[in-house]
Amino acid sequence: MPTVKVGLELELEIIRIIYGGAGLARHEGCAIFVPFTIPGEKVRARITRLRPGWAQAKLLAVTRPSADRVEPPCPWFTRCGGCAYQHIAYPRQLTIKSAQVEEALRRIGKFAAPPVEPALPSPLDYGYRNRITVHIEPPDIGFRGTDPRQVVDLNRCLLAGHAVNAALTRLRAKRAWRPGPATLRANPEARGFRQVNDGAAEILAAVVVGMAGSGQVLVDAYCGSGFFAKKLRSSFTRVIGLDWDDQSIQAAGQDAEAHEDYRRGDTAELLPAALGPAATTVVLLDPPAQGLDPGVIDTLLRARPARLVYVSCDPATLARDLSRLASGYQLLRAAPVDMFPQTASIETACLLAASPN
Ligand SMILES: C[S@@+](CC[C@H](N)C(=O)[O-])C[C@H]1O[C@@H](n2cnc3c(N)ncnc32)[C@H](O)[C@@H]1O
Repeated sequence: MPTVKVGLELELEIIRIIYGGAGLARHEGCAIFVPFTIPGEKVRARITRLRPGWAQAKLLAVTRPSADRVEPPCPWFTRCGGCAYQHIAYPRQLTIKSAQVEEALRRIGKFAAPPVEPALPSPLDYGYRNRITVHIEPPDIGFRGTDPRQVVDLNRCLLAGHAVNAALTRLRAKRAWRPGPATLRANPEARGFRQVNDGAAEILAAVVVGMAGSGQVLVDAYCGSGFFAKKLRSSFTRVIGLDWDDQSIQAAGQDAEAHEDYRRGDTAELLPAALGPAATTVVLLDPPAQGLDPGVIDTLLRARPARLVYVSCDPATLARDLSRLASGYQLLRAAPVDMFPQTASIETACLLAASPN
């Protein structure tokens, strides 16, 4: 009979931090997840949820703190669902994130020795967001809590830049609130998809530009407003951007040069016709968190463009897709970029080269 049960208090040692932010410990063969911990720490925790083979626990006390433990600056930390790592010194957050990418590529992707590089830091580790989406549930305005049924009422977010927090102050001063989500932007005129952290986005773009190199045809699949395509247009004879969002495609088209072509529609449908000769085509893939449609993977394996650059915001779907591509592509680099300091999210840019047939 397992002795782990809801309400039980245990002394645990944290082994590592899993993707999503919780610390992993083990007790009598049961994996126990304790948020707001750091590898190597000893903690006292109470089991709150039990499932076959694993349990969740609430942190009660840190009995042996890590040297990387810091005081979280936000008064809402642990109640607000936005941040997971404010208690961890920033350099350690970076090593935790690259380890999580490596773990996903090994476990889900089945890569024996994934070529994961150290995570590149964001220039700002607070105050970096150019937009936030708050939830309005009168009388509360804020983010979903660690208990997602609750909205945590807050008057500023330490991850947001000044202009975004000023917009939050203006929203809170309004008398009539319409319940639901509200996106507050540093630049309210911006249309279509835009990266959230401008400084880290430039670092990611520099990595992507280096990986994409140059050639005849660049297909920027999931191009948004053309953030990457614009930086690469001088290196390719033709640039084709694909996105199903009308506003993004309109924004991308606004300053398009003669050799750029932005097409609205589903990538799975538009990709086959967009590809140029295999040997001189580079495909950039920046899908949402759910990753690539199987149809996109089939097209790539069939047409075998020379080089792929895959930008992902979810290591698990990235690892799944890379393993599906492994029959036709070799993974050369996986470069995590910390787009979202203090949170559990990770952005990773990967370079793949077509294997000889
Ligand atoms: C993570 S964003 C990347 C945007 C762009 N690469 C950038 O850096 O600004 C993903 C984009 O994929 C688009 N998208 C999502 N699913 C799509 C699909 N099935 N076909 C085409 N576009 C899609 C969204 O509209 C969004 O612009």
